[in-house]
Amino acid sequence: MNALGACLARAFDDDPVSDYLFPNERTRRRRLERYFEWQFTHVFLPKGEAWTTSDLAGVALWMPPRRHVPTVAEAIGQLFTAARILGRHTGRALRLLEQLEAVHPKIMHFYLGTIGTDPPRQGSGIGSALLRVVLDRLDEEAMPAYLESSKEENLSFYHRHGFEVTGEVGEGKGNGRGVGPRIWLMWREPRPPDRPSSAPAPGSHPAQPA
Ligand SMILES: CC(C)(COP(=O)(O)OP(=O)(O)OC[C@H]1O[C@@H](n2cnc3c(N)ncnc32)[C@H](O)[C@@H]1OP(=O)(O)O)[C@@H](O)C(=O)NCCC(=O)NCCS
Repeated sequence: MNALGACLARAFDDDPVSDYLFPNERTRRRRLERYFEWQFTHVFLPKGEAWTTSDLAGVALWMPPRRHVPTVAEAIGQLFTAARILGRHTGRALRLLEQLEAVHPKIMHFYLGTIGTDPPRQGSGIGSALLRVVLDRLDEEAMPAYLESSKEENLSFYHRHGFEVTGEVGEGKGNGRGVGPRIWLMWREPRPPDRPSSAPAPGSHPAQPA
């Protein structure tokens, strides 16, 4: 997993949420690696789905319906791990999570927890391939999908894959009580069976389970 944790840490190095939770640029990369390794190993591999490419240049972590809510024991374990990784910024992370949980859709859906492509490989179709392998299946199963985007420039990418912005959280949002960077909430209705799925992206790599 180290390779995937490192890949995600590089992809999220300049992300506004990374900047908010890991403001120290000197230690950010290492803390991000530890966070993504933990997220992959303890949350998404046991309970969800992880998709990558044969050369580990990108990864997408998905959670099936109703599995993202941890048991009490899991929540306590997660809290301790988070505190070790986040240090004095644990409180920020908890407030951010609380805010996202409050608006998390209650309808059955697949949740895209994380997607990232190694920066030198971005724009070559890897992210699209990683999304499409799951979205095509969700279309067949008539299952909606949901994600939170922390970057405005990613909205068009997600939009091309059928996601629509349904709301926002962040500082000043939600009756002015929102905290942290701006985050866009995006929902995707499954495409009806008579509509063809998105065309293959040029240069895409076949995605495979991690
Ligand atoms: C968002 C992210 C996962 C997209 O992954 P990616 O591998 O770059 O995705 P793709 O290459 O499939 O598509 C990206 C863009 O390149 C274009 N593209 C795809 N194949 C291409 C090719 N062969 N040549 C040129 N452009 C191409 C796509 O049309 C797309 O454009 P759009 O954003 O206008 O829709 C990636 O940019 C990333 O890791 N960003 C940093 C982490 C992050 O922000 N994660 C999401 C948090 S919300």
